[in-house]
Amino acid sequence: MRCIAGPCPETIRVGLLDSTLREGEQTPGVSFTVEQKLEIAKALDRLGVQMIEAGHPAVAPDVYEAVKKIVSMKRDGEIKAEIIAHSRADRRDIEIAAELEPDRIAIFYGVSDIHLKYKHRKSREEALSIIAEMVSFAKEHGVKVRFTAEDATRADYSYLVEVVRTARDAGADRVSIADTVGIATPVFMRNLIERLRRDVPGVEFDVHAHNDLGMALANSLAAVEGGATIIHVTVNGLGERAGITSLHEAAIALKVFYGVEVVDLTKIVEVSRLVERYSGIAIPPNEPVIGDNAFTHKAGVHVAGILANPATYEPYPPELVGRTRDYTIDKYTGKKAVKARLEKLGVSVGEEELKKIVEVIKSRPNIRYLRDEDLLEIVEEVTGRKLRLRPPESIEALIMVKCESNTYTTSVARRLSVLPGVKEVLEVTGEKDIVLKVEVSTPIELNQVIEGIRSLRGVKETYTMLVLKKLSNS
Ligand code: COA
Ligand code: ZN
Repeated sequence: MRCIAGPCPETIRVGLLDSTLREGEQTPGVSFTVEQKLEIAKALDRLGVQMIEAGHPAVAPDVYEAVKKIVSMKRDGEIKAEIIAHSRADRRDIEIAAELEPDRIAIFYGVSDIHLKYKHRKSREEALSIIAEMVSFAKEHGVKVRFTAEDATRADYSYLVEVVRTARDAGADRVSIADTVGIATPVFMRNLIERLRRDVPGVEFDVHAHNDLGMALANSLAAVEGGATIIHVTVNGLGERAGITSLHEAAIALKVFYGVEVVDLTKIVEVSRLVERYSGIAIPPNEPVIGDNAFTHKAGVHVAGILANPATYEPYPPELVGRTRDYTIDKYTGKKAVKARLEKLGVSVGEEELKKIVEVIKSRPNIRYLRDEDLLEIVEEVTGRKLRLRPPESIEALIMVKCESNTYTTSVARRLSVLPGVKEVLEVTGEKDIVLKVEVSTPIELNQVIEGIRSLRGVKETYTMLVLKKLSNS
């Protein structure tokens, strides 16, 4: 186990709360349909997240509808995760959420002085009584309650302790510590959770880390090291502004650092692609775990390293998340990479040829990705051999023929062999009886050949395959 913000605790106990449907829909430009939300919820559940924050029902009718349907999927046993409805510390919001009978209502309230003064226009004392009143009001509806201390990382510590105590005493079994503007550091976050656990026992902590300074993952892990038991994540890191901790990063980091596998890692890419499509927010190629380049190597030294042992340049094998490694070829490439790629393509070249091929590649700085076709073209240039799959110059086709059951196949084959365009006739075993190799100049001629075959006595049916490319040695 490798801890990032202090000595490692004896055990790490942690799960994921996915908030793609709530925080994720707060991403500018994102609005999921109800159907899309149901599909995402099911995919998240297959992945195995412990909790799904399904939405804030008071926000809009379609949000209400989606939470309602997700709750009923849970009731019907289609989903196992705990379903959470979000709510302000407001009676009406709580009533609307409670109507849907989710497993839990999460009530949030800003607890830093800046939030209290400018947003809520409430004193610290007034806020404590609102929190107490609203948490117990929600509890009266027979649901579990999480209290979210919004902007907790900018709140006065002793006041935050009072807030957490108040929420706990009013019936919240979980408190989320929100780093609302992404301002925490890992050491601060770990200490904060450790102190809160000591000062307010009897409550479990969530961490909700925003990514404004790119610290969301590190702060979430540090919170877990401090004893938080749920990390809030979204698929692809969606959320307000720069988003929050992403599901893919949290899941792989928990595995790599602490050996904890909280979700089915091989299903992450699938969920990410689904949310990429529905959110319209593209995954950057250099995104860890899910980006196109996450397991693609380029520099010659790196590729030589991974060819000898992938661990030289990979923190974990791509197979862990259901992916495969690759490498690109361009001016940064060395001989070992080119040789390995050519071997994969079934081509072997001598040492001198290899050197020349690499020189040619390096003399073409404008190539961004050298495709296999381009590489083979260079090899042809250097070696004088013909290697490439080429489109045939004429139209070539393989026509499979099935004969009537009462005919003598060889007599049909003989008659077929004299048809114009037919180059070769093979009698074969299997579903079909005869295969013809046909070469003609135009589609009209091919059509004529097929018509000719079909009109022959004894031919029951034909099946034509056009040749697109051919490996030719001449
Ligand atoms: N608990 C209680 N009240 C809160 C609150 C909280 N945690 N956070 C903000 N408020 C209050 C503000 O003080 C303000 O009240 P005011 O009108 O008395 O000043 C109000 O909520 C927010 O202003 P506004 O958005 O203009 O109010 P609204 O009544 O028109 O709409 C929502 C309220 C919640 C329906 C609307 O803002 C919305 O759809 N929000 C999307 C969800 C959201 O904001 N989530 C934040 C998650 S961190
Ligand atoms: Zn948030």
